[in-house]
Amino acid sequence: MSEFLIDGGVRLEGSIGVQTSKNALLPIICGALLVEGEVVLKNVAPYLDVENLLDIVKRCDVKIEHEFGAVVLDASSAKPSLIPSALSKQLRASILLLGAFVGRFRHARVTFPGGCEIGLRPIDLHLNALRELGVIIEENHGIINCDASNLRGGVVMLDFASVGATENIILASVLGAEEVTILNAAREPEIVDLSNFLNRCGANIVGAGTNEIVIKPVKKLFPIEYEPIKDRIVGCTYLLAGAITHGNIEVRGVKYAQNISFLKKLCQSGCQLNIKSDTITLKSPKTFQTVDMIETNVYPAFPTDLQSPFVALLSIIKGVCIVRENVFESRFKYVPELIKMGAKIKVKNNVALIEGVEKLSGAEVWATDLRGGAGLILAALCANGYTTIHNANHILRGYSNLAENLGSLGARIKYK
Ligand code: UD1
Repeated sequence: MSEFLIDGGVRLEGSIGVQTSKNALLPIICGALLVEGEVVLKNVAPYLDVENLLDIVKRCDVKIEHEFGAVVLDASSAKPSLIPSALSKQLRASILLLGAFVGRFRHARVTFPGGCEIGLRPIDLHLNALRELGVIIEENHGIINCDASNLRGGVVMLDFASVGATENIILASVLGAEEVTILNAAREPEIVDLSNFLNRCGANIVGAGTNEIVIKPVKKLFPIEYEPIKDRIVGCTYLLAGAITHGNIEVRGVKYAQNISFLKKLCQSGCQLNIKSDTITLKSPKTFQTVDMIETNVYPAFPTDLQSPFVALLSIIKGVCIVRENVFESRFKYVPELIKMGAKIKVKNNVALIEGVEKLSGAEVWATDLRGGAGLILAALCANGYTTIHNANHILRGYSNLAENLGSLGARIKYK
């Protein structure tokens, strides 16, 4: 098993650029399955989730080549192959193949997805939405069989603004038969990016970024070159790395408008931010201040993916802070590991009460999931002494070249 070794206590200084967004790349790769011809995705960072999804689509006879950081996908001869459960369980986003297969082939057989164990993570919203669009779905022995020969249009109202369900409906509908309207659609920037990508290929999607998206079907999508947006979660994690180590860093490729709820809390903690176009410079204060209660929720509220990284910072802010997790029910699994490092945190149901300590100390800890693991990395960067973070694979799913990148800011971090 891989691990990160961190010798903490170094102030981070310098400038760092953010890579393309994992959560934008994953649906866009599935979107490339709708295109007959070569799609070039530029600046693809080697996230483990992305590598795993590329392995999966290869099994659907999509030709894939890597060229100077770009990935070239040609789905001209693609087939809707059944992906072995062991592979699709590696990442939650494998469920997005469902929408892509329905859209392109009018039938699909997929296994249940996996991903971080941060809650129940059902796919009922995805399946109910497709049923409303005329898809006949049967679940047998863990396999979801979809017959979309009578795919139709209509208005789909999501009970919850699910990111994945919104993306699946878009993927199923761009080459559909009739107009589809999604109400209570998720508004995340990654959905806007998927829509921009598909529209550049010739699709007709209006309203992405609002809670009402209208998809007018087109006959065919055309090959393009595309560079997905930068990873807002990674960008904000770097800002937190600067903050928690009392550092002074510049992060390139992080947009103020996409991160307002997070940046407001960072400012409240006493960090000084200088915002210029897509670059944010952070100066961490000598003494942090407590922040008002943080409540995670769908975009543009405070992102659930930054909950554990922010709790790492709160764990060294003198006073008491409260965090309520409203998106995933088991997203405090990392807390016992942070407590091993000296943090004082009490969790009851979906609320964590954090009483800041003066200093964390290095320990041997285990990453329980991707973002929980990122929280442990941050804690280790500011802790006294050495920390070993086991199960590092969880972290590699959504952070690429992390040891090199943080090392370039002065962190003493190794990956092995
Ligand atoms: C995406 C992101 C993930 C982020 C999450 C919320 C990707 C690849 N992943 O995950 O990083 O943490 O959005 O911002 O983009 N739900 C149901 N039924 C469903 C679907 C979802 O009950 O059919 C529930 C989930 O269990 C969860 C909540 O809705 O409690 C949010 O899920 P969703 O927005 O779908 O997240 P993902 O697309 O899985």
